[in-house]
Amino acid sequence: MPAVPVDVDPFGDEFLRDPYAFHGALRDAGAVIWLPAINAFGMARFEHVSAALKDHETFCSSRGVGLADFAKEEPFRAPSLLLEADPPLHDRTRQLMNRIVSPKALKDLRPQWQEKADRLVRTLATGIEFDAVTELAEVYPMMVFPDTIGLMDEGRENLLDYAAIVFNAFGPRNQIFEDGIRGSEAAIAWVDAACKRENLKPGGWGMAVFEAADRAECSNEEAERLVRSFLTAGVDTTVNGIGHLVLALSQNPDQFARLRADPALAKKAFEESLRWDSTVQTFFRVTTRDVEIDGTAIPQGAKVLLFLAAANRDPGHWIEPERFDIERNVSGHVGFGFGIHQCLGQMVARLEGELVAKALAQNVASIRPLGEPVRRLNNTLHALASYRVAVQPA
Ligand code: HEM
Repeated sequence: MPAVPVDVDPFGDEFLRDPYAFHGALRDAGAVIWLPAINAFGMARFEHVSAALKDHETFCSSRGVGLADFAKEEPFRAPSLLLEADPPLHDRTRQLMNRIVSPKALKDLRPQWQEKADRLVRTLATGIEFDAVTELAEVYPMMVFPDTIGLMDEGRENLLDYAAIVFNAFGPRNQIFEDGIRGSEAAIAWVDAACKRENLKPGGWGMAVFEAADRAECSNEEAERLVRSFLTAGVDTTVNGIGHLVLALSQNPDQFARLRADPALAKKAFEESLRWDSTVQTFFRVTTRDVEIDGTAIPQGAKVLLFLAAANRDPGHWIEPERFDIERNVSGHVGFGFGIHQCLGQMVARLEGELVAKALAQNVASIRPLGEPVRRLNNTLHALASYRVAVQPA
C-alpha cells in the first residue's frame, strides 16, 4: 500500500518551535508516511526509526543525511567522511576516530572537566537567577571542548555560528537557512583555517588525526575534513543537550530533588533528558533498494526522514513517554542515533552532561523556571536561545 500523506511541514516555523505537538499525528498516520511539503517519506515510530538506523545497507548515508540528495544535487559543503559516508570508507574513518575519542582519553579528562563544571555552577548558584543557556549551556562546552581538540584561541566563538549553519543545511533552503547563512563567510573561513595542521595545538585530538595521517591511516586532506567533524558536531549539540537538561530538571522539581538526594543519578538524568527532548531531532537516509515496511512500499533512491525525537517519545515503546523520569531505563533511545553512525562524541556529551547535572545537584538547593524558554529555530536541532531560572544555593 502507498504511504499515508501527512500535511505537515517538518521544517516550518510552527513545527520547529514545538515539534512534540505534531509527533503524535506523524506516528499515528502509519509506519511510513509521505510528506508532500518536502517530497520525502518519513518514519516516526520507535520500532521503525530504530530498525532503519541499524540497517545501513538499505538506508544509506552517502547520498546525504539532509534533504539534499547528493546523487542529484551539489552538497552544501564537501561531505563528512563519517556522517555522510557508507562502508567501507566509513569503517576506516570511524575506526581511526574511535581510537582518538577513547574511554581512556575521556577518563583522563574527567578531573579537569569536573573542576570546571563545579566552579561554573558554584558561581552561578551564588546569584538569585541566571540564564541557563547563555550563562551555562553555551559556556561550559566552550570551557572544555575546544581545548581538548587543541583549537587556536582566537575566534572560537565562530564554532556556534558554524554549527548552526551546518545543522540548518540538512533541511530545505528555507528562511531559517537563508537567515543563518547571511554574513556567515567569516565563521566558515575560521573553521576552514582551524582544521589545518599548522593551526592545531600539539597534544589535542585535532593533531591526533594528523598523526593518523602520518601513519597513512588517511590522507592529509581527509584529516582536515575529519577534524571538521569535531568542530561541527561537538559544540551546538552539547550546548542544547545541557540546556534541555536544565529545562527538564527545573520543570520537574521532584526529579531534581531525587537527583539531589543521590547525585550518582547524574549520568542517568542527562541520558533521560536526551530521550525526553532530543537535541538532534531528525536525520534523513536514502533507500538503496525497493523496501517494504509494515506493508508500505518505499522505492529505491527515496529520501526518508527519520524523526528521532518522535521515536524517543513513542508510547508504543515507552511507558508514559512525556514524563521526565531520571530513573527510567532509557537504553536503546535514539538521541545519539543507533548502528554504525551512532554518535562518535557520545562519551564526550555524556561526560559534560553528567558533570553539569552533578554540579547542580551538589551546589544548588532549588532551581525553577522564570517563564518559558526562548527558542532558536534550527532545521535539525531543537535549540534554545535563552532560558532564565531562579536558584537557591545548597
Ligand atoms: C548531546 C550531544 C550530542 C547529540 C544529541 C548527538 C547526536 C548525534 C546523532 C543523532 C548522530 C547520528 C547521526 C546519524 O545517524 O546520521 C550523531 C553522529 C555523530 N556525532 Fe554526535 N551528538 C552529540 C554530541 C557530539 C559530540 C560532542 C561530538 C564530537 C566529539 C559528536 C560527533 C559526532 C560525529 C562525528 C557523528 C557522525 C558519526 C558517524 O557517522 O559515524 N557528537 N550524533
